[in-house]
Amino acid sequence: MASFAQQLGIEHPLIQAPMAGASTPALAAAVSEAGGLGSLGVGYIEPQAILDQAAQVRALTGRPFALNLFVLPDDFEPDMAAVARARARLDALMEREGLEVRTSLPMRWTPRFSEQFAALCETRPAVASFAFDLLTPAQMQEIKRRDIYVIGTATTAAEARAWAERGADAVCVQGVEAGGHRGGFLHAGETPLIGLFALIPLAVRAVAASGREIPVIAAGGIMDGAGMLAAEVLGAAASQLGTAFLACPESSAAEAWKRDLATAEDHRIATIRSFSGRAARGLRNRYVEAMESMADELPAYPVLNALTAPLRRAAAAAGRADLVSEWCGQAAALAHPQPAAELVARLMHEYRLARRALAH
Ligand SMILES: Cc1cc2nc3c(=O)[nH]c(=O)nc-3n(C[C@H](O)[C@H](O)[C@H](O)COP(=O)(O)O)c2cc1C
Repeated sequence: MASFAQQLGIEHPLIQAPMAGASTPALAAAVSEAGGLGSLGVGYIEPQAILDQAAQVRALTGRPFALNLFVLPDDFEPDMAAVARARARLDALMEREGLEVRTSLPMRWTPRFSEQFAALCETRPAVASFAFDLLTPAQMQEIKRRDIYVIGTATTAAEARAWAERGADAVCVQGVEAGGHRGGFLHAGETPLIGLFALIPLAVRAVAASGREIPVIAAGGIMDGAGMLAAEVLGAAASQLGTAFLACPESSAAEAWKRDLATAEDHRIATIRSFSGRAARGLRNRYVEAMESMADELPAYPVLNALTAPLRRAAAAAGRADLVSEWCGQAAALAHPQPAAELVARLMHEYRLARRALAH
């Protein structure tokens, strides 16, 4: 099998993770220009914005890049009584914290996936990655017809196998360490939290059992070249790093969020449901503690995400990072604020040094 980098015509086995709300065209383009694979998380934006952002990446680089979507149903019919209870609690919290913003009912809970998917197909990035569910066989056929390389996100061995059987070109396994939302889909009522050291070899075996020979990409807590090499030794073909790139000047994470990464203690980085209604890893801050007792009664994603979005925006504008979803992986404190091109060069330098050290 050609290496992952060879399959895509890139230099390094390194993917900058898609980060909806934090990755930018400038970040993705800088990483791709530096020889990695830059990604744009476009799960929160409307189809026209997807086309515009992809055009912005293309204006900055001719190299391959990835677009990433959350696979969701088109329509949601939430329990409106639960929505009302959540709004009352959120509004009371804003009032206590001295912020004027209040919740409101959005026109739509989230952009329609089928329309986002059509925009992605139209813009034809070299790579498309997906989280939260499998593509349907028809969607897979549609995207393959356009020669787009498909990466599916898995949080368990069974999900890795499911993506391989559905026809993905590669599977990205997301260990428990990973920042941001859990990308899994198979295990209703559970949030699998498998460590990356266990998950890589399990997923490699599960993918092989599907009869397909496709790369397994490792994500979760990888912050340096030694971590990339460790993932490779365990069987990964490439590493996908999110939090490491979050601190770059090209990321659109708020300055206070970037600052908080440096001092983030590992035990304060938790799996949180209360911002979006779906498990995601981030800093356990004042908001998380205030909402904790109600976390299980809150509406599910994307309903809660839509309700809290304006509150998070207002809190960020007021410099209240302690009320904002500060997503990050478990090793956030290892992030260095440096331009993305320098970060790619440093990671690859560390990777080569670690390789050499192992050979002795
Ligand atoms: C701020 C942030 C936003 C993220 N958004 C997305 C996303 O839009 N789509 C996705 O598939 N993964 C998303 N992720 C998860 C990453 O793809 C990846 O699994 C994770 O960053 C790896 O762990 P690390 O952050 O410790 O490197 C996000 C992660 C972070 C930190």
